[in-house]
Amino acid sequence: MHIGHIRLANRLFAAPMAGVTDRPFRQLCKRLGAGYAVSEMVTSRRDLWNSLKTSRRANHDGEVEPIAVQIAGTDAPMMAQAAAYNIDRGAQIIDINMGCPAKKVCNKWAGSALMQDEPLALAIVEAVVAACAPHNVPVTLKMRTGWCDAERNAVRIARAAESAGVAMVAVHGRTREQGYKGAAEYDTVAAVKAALRIPVVANGDIDSPEKARAVLAATGADALMIGRAAQGRPWIFREIAHFLATGEHLPAPQVTQAKDWLVEHLHDHYGLYGWDDAGPGVRSARKHIGWAVRALPGGEAFRSRMNLIDSCETQLRALSDWFDELADTHFLMPATSAAANDSFIDDALFEKLA
Ligand SMILES: Cc1cc2nc3c(=O)[nH]c(=O)nc-3n(C[C@H](O)[C@H](O)[C@H](O)COP(=O)(O)O)c2cc1C
Repeated sequence: MHIGHIRLANRLFAAPMAGVTDRPFRQLCKRLGAGYAVSEMVTSRRDLWNSLKTSRRANHDGEVEPIAVQIAGTDAPMMAQAAAYNIDRGAQIIDINMGCPAKKVCNKWAGSALMQDEPLALAIVEAVVAACAPHNVPVTLKMRTGWCDAERNAVRIARAAESAGVAMVAVHGRTREQGYKGAAEYDTVAAVKAALRIPVVANGDIDSPEKARAVLAATGADALMIGRAAQGRPWIFREIAHFLATGEHLPAPQVTQAKDWLVEHLHDHYGLYGWDDAGPGVRSARKHIGWAVRALPGGEAFRSRMNLIDSCETQLRALSDWFDELADTHFLMPATSAAANDSFIDDALFEKLA
C-alpha cells in the first residue's frame, strides 16, 4: 500500500479525530497495528498557528513515519500556505479535510461543507497540490459520500481530485447531512473505488474484524480507516490485521498488558500536555481513560471517581490500582460490546465539532 511514493506498513488506518488523535494516541495506534495515522486537523488560519493548541497538534516528536497532517479551511491560498507551513514542520503527507464538519473558518464552514461547493473544493485541492508538489509531498483527501442524500457527489469530487493530482481518497460512508446518524453505507465508497486509479480508503462504523472483512469485500477498497472503535481499544488494529491475514481471532489482550499500554500512553500524554495539577494533561487524559474503562465491569463507577482527580500522579495510580483489581478476576480483557461505541459521538458532540 502506497500513498504517492510513500510505502505504508499495512492498510489499516487510524482516522483523524479532533481532540483524540494527538501524537500520543497516534503513536499508540501505530504501535498496536495501525499502518498509518493522520493528525488532527490544523487550521489554515495563520493567526492561530502560534497558539498552544495548534503547536501541540503540529508536534511530531518521535512519531513513527510517515507524518501525515490534516488541514482544514475554505480559502485556497490559505490552505496552500497551511500545507507549506506543516511541511516545514515535518509533514510528509498533507490531508485535506472534506470529511468532518469542521468549525467555521473565517465565517464559512470548512471540512465536509466544502462538498457543497465543488468549484471551491477543487480550487483548494489544486492550490494544495501545487504547494506540495515542489516538496514531493503527496496530498490526500478525506470526504463523505456527499452533502445530503439527494446530492451524493463523492464520485465526481474524487475524480476531479484525482485529475488534479491527489494521491489517495478516504470516504466516510455518510453524507454531511447525516452527521453520525444511521449506518454508514458502502455502495458509494465502492463506486468511488471503481471510478479511480489511486488508492481509496473505506471508513465508517468499522468496529470488528468481521466488519473489516465485510467492508473490504463490499467496497474493494485498498485500505480501511477506523475511528471511534479505536477509542479505548487501540489494539483493534492488530486484531483486524490478524483476522484479515489468518481468518482467526487474536485472543483479547491480557488485562496487565492493556494496563501497561494505557499507563505508557498516559506518560506520553502528560509529556505533551504537562504534568500540572488540574492542568490540560490530567483533564484531557480523563476521556482516554473513560473510553478504556467505560464498558468494563465497574468501569462507569471508576470513571466518575476518576473525573474528580486533579493530579496526574494520582490519576495514574488510581488507574493502575483499578486495572490490578480487574486482573484479580480477569486474565484477559473482557469482551466489550460494539454498542458501547455508538454513543461516542452524540448530537451534542457533533454540534460542538460543527
Ligand atoms: C471526536 C471525533 C472527531 C473527529 N474529527 C475529525 C477531523 O478532525 N477530521 C476528519 O476528517 N474527520 C474527523 N472525524 C471523523 C472521523 O475521522 C471518521 O470519519 C468518522 O468518525 C467515521 O469513522 P468511524 O465510524 O470509524 O468512527 C472525527 C470523528 C470523531 C468521532
